Amino acid sequence: SFLETAESFKEVTGREIKKVPALRGKTIVNLFYEPSTRTRTSFELAAKRLSADVINISSSTSSATKGETLLDTARNIEAMKTDILIVRHPMAGAPALLAQQLTSSVINAGDGAHEHPTQALLDLYTIKEKKGRIQGLTVVIAGDILHSRVARSNLFGLVTMGARVRLAGPGTMLPPLMGSWLAAAPGQIELFTDFDKALSGADVIMMLRLQLERQGGSFFPSVNEYARYYGLTARRVSQAAPDALIMHPGPINRGVEIAPEVADGLSSAILEQVTNGVAVRMAILYLLSGGGKGDN
Ligand code: NCD
Repeated sequence: SFLETAESFKEVTGREIKKVPALRGKTIVNLFYEPSTRTRTSFELAAKRLSADVINISSSTSSATKGETLLDTARNIEAMKTDILIVRHPMAGAPALLAQQLTSSVINAGDGAHEHPTQALLDLYTIKEKKGRIQGLTVVIAGDILHSRVARSNLFGLVTMGARVRLAGPGTMLPPLMGSWLAAAPGQIELFTDFDKALSGADVIMMLRLQLERQGGSFFPSVNEYARYYGLTARRVSQAAPDALIMHPGPINRGVEIAPEVADGLSSAILEQVTNGVAVRMAILYLLSGGGKGDN
């Protein structure tokens, strides 16, 4: 299975020499039209640990600043015989458009407020590793759901794997189309505007960054008030299950959606998510290149 492939690559990343020859001779391109620390570095390390050649292109230093379209840029990169294109873009659907128009494989590394599938896979991996299962767990996803591609991808992944998902946040940040999600997975998804109620007995608490850069309007009165009602404090964590796992995709706003003592506490898996991200992305690149055919 996918998670088992990721597990074998996690073993590789724990070795003294963290490298296998699986993707030798392949060329992988990171094409990022948005700032990123974790995701871009994670893909680059994953590619290098598989012995692929990898290059990084960011919009600020590319010909996008000269008016070239995304599709033209991507076609020109592909003309240099690259194999996999990893795309982060502020517009929902940009990686899907490229996947239709190019012959290379395209990986979505986050498209606007739409999806961030590789983040969801690394989160599922981390939950499985820490809890031993995903099926039947109660997972709270809390905060700025409306603007969060991480929330969307995790919701779909968690529901598919049989978890119960509680979405918690201010009413202004719960997406209007949610009715169709609720209908698609009856009984598996619940909505809460009361964060304390959502936390009751939860096995996993996944916090989201307050994404001020995506918010066109006013969604809450002040950051202080947001922190007071929706910030994860030690007191709030105590309402969850005793061994509740604390997660956040990063970057965190310390003291806003998560208190420092919670982010740095013993139950926090935040840095382990980042560690697992490399192994999970190695598995994605490997499987996408045709690896593992016949053995799963
Ligand atoms: C997230 C992103 O960029 O979607 N970060 C990440 O990839 N780890 C979440 C965020 O920006 O809040």
